[in-house]
Amino acid sequence: MASSPPPVPAGVRVRVPAKINLALKVGAPRADGYHPLATVYQAVSVYDEVHAAWADPDEFEVVVSGEGADQVPLDDSNLAVRAAKLLARRHGPYDSLGAKLSIKKSIPVAGGLAGGSANGAAALLACAVLWDLDVTPEGLHALAAELGSDVPFALLGGTAVGSGRGEEVAPALARGTYHWVLAFGYHGLSTATVYRRYDELRPRAAPPQVPADLMNALRSGDPKRLGRALVNDLEPVALDLQPRLRTVLQAGLEYGALGALVSGSGPTCAFLVDGESAAVDLSVSLSAEGVCRAVRHATGPVAGARVVN
Ligand code: C5P
Repeated sequence: MASSPPPVPAGVRVRVPAKINLALKVGAPRADGYHPLATVYQAVSVYDEVHAAWADPDEFEVVVSGEGADQVPLDDSNLAVRAAKLLARRHGPYDSLGAKLSIKKSIPVAGGLAGGSANGAAALLACAVLWDLDVTPEGLHALAAELGSDVPFALLGGTAVGSGRGEEVAPALARGTYHWVLAFGYHGLSTATVYRRYDELRPRAAPPQVPADLMNALRSGDPKRLGRALVNDLEPVALDLQPRLRTVLQAGLEYGALGALVSGSGPTCAFLVDGESAAVDLSVSLSAEGVCRAVRHATGPVAGARVVN
């Protein structure tokens, strides 16, 4: 008896984490306007989910629910839609492919946690599996890099060094699991605006390098060392644009965090703490202080985008 072909999945669900930058060193803008980065990413346990289902050929639509859903565009500027279309154009019989995408958000929009990039990465993976395309991990990585600077890391996950404009990623040697308390801001920050202001404040930024003390701290697995080594060149810019973030950072340190920084282009503040009960204590204290919109406990590193059904 001839064996039947494998069933085509009705839908594919991908879970994808947020990232924080443990170090973010930023150079002067390149000829293309992007900034050379030396960064260390860590994927943390705050997840968005992207579900992809078949749609008519050349039909691409997206619906969004959850945290900040009303701020996510539903047109072709949506990174998940752009990802699905790019994948179909480059790796599929474009005329016969379409997708209904549904995004469930927990990662705040415009929070410095690469939520939009995470959605792009998840859509790439979900559609590649849904459409059963013959695309290698390297092929997906190349498309991810075209979509945005943080998208390749969202596929990779873990702890990784990022260079170029952030899109060149290599796993970093890191020991242990770290506990983070994330304080979400009331208002988002536009990444492009933050970089523009960075150029005004630091017109002659030096070529960026990942700090050796941070890499050594990660290798040692000692959260106290890591707490002291956290660094973000964009933090003064985020504080300039949203001065109340200074109060948030100070409050976290006064309540015992081992280290504190603004994540990426902000405004989310990330506090490193010494284990689970310290995370609970700090979360309660920050919530009671009322200095931020919401507080989340997260651990890292966690895996990058993964199929979950
Ligand atoms: O790469 P992505 O589309 O996520 O970047 C968003 C914006 O952030 C860019 O348009 C650019 O203004 C700024 N950016 C930058 N240098 C980087 C990454 C992002 O100037 N390395």
